[in-house]
Amino acid sequence: MRNCRNAVYKKLSMPNNYNGIAKIYDAVSRIVFQHSIIKAQVYLIQLITNNDKVLIVGGGTGWILEEISKLNKQNISVVYVEKSSAMIRLAKKRNYKNIKANFAEEAIEDYHPTEEFNVIITPFLFDNFLQDKIEIVFNKLDTFLKPNSIWLYADFVNDKQGKKIWQQILLKTMYLFFRITANIETHELVNMRPYFKEKYQLLSEQFYYSGFIQAVAYRKIK
Ligand SMILES: C[S@@+](CC[C@H](N)C(=O)[O-])C[C@H]1O[C@@H](n2cnc3c(N)ncnc32)[C@H](O)[C@@H]1O
Repeated sequence: MRNCRNAVYKKLSMPNNYNGIAKIYDAVSRIVFQHSIIKAQVYLIQLITNNDKVLIVGGGTGWILEEISKLNKQNISVVYVEKSSAMIRLAKKRNYKNIKANFAEEAIEDYHPTEEFNVIITPFLFDNFLQDKIEIVFNKLDTFLKPNSIWLYADFVNDKQGKKIWQQILLKTMYLFFRITANIETHELVNMRPYFKEKYQLLSEQFYYSGFIQAVAYRKIK
């Protein structure tokens, strides 16, 4: 009994555990961000072309699979790496008939692919991590991506100069909410641009929600 309780406690206290909020995640995100999170990712996936091998990390409930499916491209295969078992369960129920999807229920830190990818999508993933983990995950994902391929990155913008006070307040509120509901490990948004600077060329970018949400497409040049 005690072991069982310990196991449950350990699982609940696992960092970045979205299981408890998986069912309400999309509704909350849509109420707060008025579809900007979806628009940012729909903008990015337009860059997917026929025969692409796509890696999605932290895709959440899987609505992005339906959006990729709607593109009606030929021969798209997707590997969906998602740490939350509840998120994976929801994603598997999605209607993504014309793409081939394989699911890996694990943290990206532990994932070992058997192939390289033409497209990597990290939608609101890095905002979960402490700087040390960001470095590890970024470098790892970089090795999975073929040269000349694309990395589609969507996340929040940290207005470090504090020009937009409402953004600072919203960011703090979000981190508090996810600390309580998902035991998120960090409380600070790291600027990811320097990570891409050396090996990636900016292809296109778009901002949403008065500049608080960014969607950036990069091409790997080295
Ligand atoms: C903020 S949510 C974003 C969900 C979705 N991309 C969206 O935009 O609606 C972050 C997602 O990343 C997943 N996640 C967190 N850490 C992860 C890790 N280390 N490896 C894989 N997925 C992770 C969470 O389970 C969650 O589904």
